[in-house]
Amino acid sequence: AMLLYFLLLLLRLTALPRDSAALTRHDFPDGFIFGAGTSAYQVEGAAAEDGRKPSIWDTFTHQGYSYDKSTADISADQYHHYKDDVKLMHEIGLDAYRFSIAWPRLIPDGRGRINPKGLKYYNNLIDELIRHDIQPHVTIYHLDFPQSLQDEYKGLLSPRFVDDYTAYADACFKSFGDRVKHWVTVNEPNIETIGSFDSGELPPRRCSYPFGVNCTGGNSTTEPYIAAHRLLLAHASAVSLYRDKYQGTQRGQIGITLLGWWHEPATKASRDAAAATRMNDFHIGWFMHPLVYGDYPPVMRRRVGARLPYLTAEQSKNLSGSFDFVGFNHYLVVRAQSDERAFDRKQRDYYNDAAAIANPFKDIQEGHLESAPWALGKLLDHLRLKYRNPPVMIHENGFADAPKTPSKIEFDDDYRSEYLQDYLEVLYQSIRNGSDARGYFVWSFLDVFELLFGYASRFGLCGVDMNAVERTRYMRNSARWYSSFLKGGELRP
Ligand code: NOJ
Repeated sequence: AMLLYFLLLLLRLTALPRDSAALTRHDFPDGFIFGAGTSAYQVEGAAAEDGRKPSIWDTFTHQGYSYDKSTADISADQYHHYKDDVKLMHEIGLDAYRFSIAWPRLIPDGRGRINPKGLKYYNNLIDELIRHDIQPHVTIYHLDFPQSLQDEYKGLLSPRFVDDYTAYADACFKSFGDRVKHWVTVNEPNIETIGSFDSGELPPRRCSYPFGVNCTGGNSTTEPYIAAHRLLLAHASAVSLYRDKYQGTQRGQIGITLLGWWHEPATKASRDAAAATRMNDFHIGWFMHPLVYGDYPPVMRRRVGARLPYLTAEQSKNLSGSFDFVGFNHYLVVRAQSDERAFDRKQRDYYNDAAAIANPFKDIQEGHLESAPWALGKLLDHLRLKYRNPPVMIHENGFADAPKTPSKIEFDDDYRSEYLQDYLEVLYQSIRNGSDARGYFVWSFLDVFELLFGYASRFGLCGVDMNAVERTRYMRNSARWYSSFLKGGELRP
């Protein structure tokens, strides 16, 4: 026993993290993927070209609801510049590019006919990536729901969403699955449901609160739960389809990507600790609990009652284990404060304790996000301890700045490199602690149309001159730093 003890101690000592200042990518597990990402509506442009029809995001921006009243009609125009972009990715040394397929470009009416020009565009992009030895990691649905289906049946609120989404996913697997080996069914369902059906800040702008700025119609006490339910069922349905019909021959992996804010108690008070736990359960558990255990978290059942949809035995079976990996987009720590009065007053179940984060985006507007890399460590610990240590992809992590002179492109963004270095260091430590992280993607590869802030906030490793017709791309210092790291250099050169 003594010998065993010493052996274990020795193992433990050799497992101690090496000096993380000297970290390189080779310290990460074999096969660990480093990439960067974008999404279709935010980067492609060519909004009305080659048969693409509007999504609810086109409607939203055309009605003037983005922060700077801009649209993504052209944005970085990747539709016409994908070859330049792939070349740039290759120069930087990305292992993978995470992008999404625009549903209304591939299937302009939302269901039925495939648009041959849309099909060709994604085939070209995927082929170009593969020619440059860059893996395509594809999100099937990243917020841009076809407007025609929205008009027809209220989108995510209808059970018809699940059928149309599954048919669309089927078309993606069938068309691209010979080359795409990493699929994400849905991006950030946990924020889409709140933004679109509670706060009303995102299209289709539904909410029932008098303080909602842009929203009309809706019922915030029920609709977010219905929408989330449909997204979960749609996800499970696409995964079953992929597993039954494609995975055997195509041999890819499929998962879902959630927004992973970490909620930390605002004070030492035990009621705030309880609030943080509840908020993590409402934010992460809302999706992770069904994905791992086949039902919503008990605390949600208790608080939301019959407004929270029930899962049939079959739905529950299809949901549990319906992923090969889970993606997390991580940017922020939220300070949680107990506020039961807010709960009574507004009936906002998941904001009930959130008094401390009136506006988590305020920091972006002010030109910075609070860098709190330890929060990523806590998120990964939480997933390991509470959700059976799922394989995880960090699908988004990045730093936004809000340039004082929007027309000027900043190159000197060492604060962005530092932010990324800090988070990568914590990611490395979490892996040493037993988390099963398998990839890391910077958001974003390029400056894009940012969801709420248009062009007033920039995440790009590479800048885009949005005022020039040619949309010239420039590597920022952060892109150069990432490149040196990806080519084997030290994390902190
Ligand atoms: C979340 C979304 O997935 C992406 O579309 C957005 O641009 C970034 N995070 C930054 O807000």
